[in-house]
Amino acid sequence: MSRKKIVAGNWKMNTSLQEAKNLVERITEQINEFDDIIKIIIPPFPYLEAVAGLLSNKANFYSGAQNCHTNPGGAFTGEVSANMLSSVGCNYVLIGHSERRQYFKEKDADFVLKIKEALKHNLHPVFCIGETIHERKTDNHFKIVTEQLTNVLNQFSLEEFSRFVLAYEPVWAIGTGETATSKQAQEMHAFIRSVVTDIYDSTIANNVSILYGGSCNAQNARELFACKDVDGGLIGGASLNADDFCKIIFSF
Ligand code: PGA
Repeated sequence: MSRKKIVAGNWKMNTSLQEAKNLVERITEQINEFDDIIKIIIPPFPYLEAVAGLLSNKANFYSGAQNCHTNPGGAFTGEVSANMLSSVGCNYVLIGHSERRQYFKEKDADFVLKIKEALKHNLHPVFCIGETIHERKTDNHFKIVTEQLTNVLNQFSLEEFSRFVLAYEPVWAIGTGETATSKQAQEMHAFIRSVVTDIYDSTIANNVSILYGGSCNAQNARELFACKDVDGGLIGGASLNADDFCKIIFSF
């Protein structure tokens, strides 16, 4: 993908089916069809087909999943494969979200397998990275983000990486109301591009979209999105309110 402005709403484990449909309708009715911003709605699995259906005739709107399994199919009770996601019209999939790392103990090796499955089924991986508060306070944030990136990206060719979106989500900012300052976000996003340059080259590093996530909301999005290396946001809490989510989209 060439570098694009993107706003993605990660609904996490929230909404009923009816609430999900209402939210999509209230978002899409406010959005001008002719803007060039990619909007990605990431509902819980059971609503993906319905959400993808509602978005199918809306320009620049796409659906995404919050996770996929490492395997293509088989005896994995309770799991969902990338193939299934693509068969219901899904376009993107979050990989490596900090909640998956923290609560489900997912590791770099899992992310590699998940991304391979996602790419095989024409899904764009939205690969999430970011440091904990302890890692930032001990001045290890650049080291951790470098490791998170290299351990996974080293397993993918430049052509494969060209289909990625990256999301920098400092764990201390997710769901806490504490946002990275625009200075901190810009500094890390520029650093991420330098790591991508080292792994691949500067052309691909300039082309990858890097989203900021972590308490991004209708009040702070404008300042964050104005940063040179911030290409948009991965929004949790504020994406559950249609007006707030649209205000974030209007913040570019
Ligand atoms: P938040 O979540 O916006 O509620 O902090 C962001 C995320 O987890 O992607």
